Amino acid sequence: MQLDLLQLSMYFAIGIGAAVSLLLIFVVWKFRERPGQKNNPEQIHGSTKLEIAWTLIPIVILTILAVPTVKTAFGTYVAPADVDMTVKATGNQWWFAFEYPGEKITTANEMVIPVGKKIKLEIESKDVIHSFWIPKLAGKTDMIPNRTNEMWIQADEAGMYYGQCAEYCGTQHAKMRFRVKAVSEAEWQQWVKDRQAGAKAPTDPLAVKGKEILEKQACIGCHTIDGTAAKGTVGPNLSNIGSRPTIAAGIIDNTTENLKAWVKNSQTIKPGNKMPAFTSLKDEDLDAIVAYLQSLK
Ligand code: CUA
Repeated sequence: MQLDLLQLSMYFAIGIGAAVSLLLIFVVWKFRERPGQKNNPEQIHGSTKLEIAWTLIPIVILTILAVPTVKTAFGTYVAPADVDMTVKATGNQWWFAFEYPGEKITTANEMVIPVGKKIKLEIESKDVIHSFWIPKLAGKTDMIPNRTNEMWIQADEAGMYYGQCAEYCGTQHAKMRFRVKAVSEAEWQQWVKDRQAGAKAPTDPLAVKGKEILEKQACIGCHTIDGTAAKGTVGPNLSNIGSRPTIAAGIIDNTTENLKAWVKNSQTIKPGNKMPAFTSLKDEDLDAIVAYLQSLK
């Protein structure tokens, strides 16, 4: 869409550039100094005909360009009538929640979408103003409290698209990232089915123990793990945390070491974030919790 507009403007620019250059070359040639010439060519001052011509021509060109420009500008924000699905993206200090109202699922910091489909995004904020930006897929849209902004995206190729909060929203604004994972229709359907089925029950004894410990901790007051005692909505939904490549809103790799460090004292990694430190957790309990989180795929 933007590319078409850019190309159209470029054709006009090339046309004008060529016309002006040719005219210049012609004038230089036509009025070149000739042998035996005594006077300069006749000098004129002011020409109503010329003035009108070079005012009217740009007006016509700009009017022609204004139509597709305005259409494209609005078209990138207002979702077309034939969108395939809707995702509600909510900014939080400092992470992103993604709700799929049609599929009745929620995830965080990683939005999974089917490739080639038009996705309407409803953009909101829970606290301060953020800005939702996936440079490879669309322009920025502000996430404003008590207001729903709209935009739409379509990923033409499968893969990871990186997103970043683009409006200063507090200390950890820079560390407020997300990803859009575009997958095939079949993979997407499977992903939805997995999410709708709820979080996987752990089988590994350490992870089973981890689930028990986690459900006795404050974790469940802030986080949701679908189908368990964890039903909080203050922090990101963790139902599939084990499958996400990164944690802490896209800032560190999802490794055992990093998960342990984050659960124990996330304040050393992302100071000011709303998650309290759990420095009194025993090492073996921490290992169990992390094993459980990693089992959530
Ligand atoms: Cu959220 Cu910057």
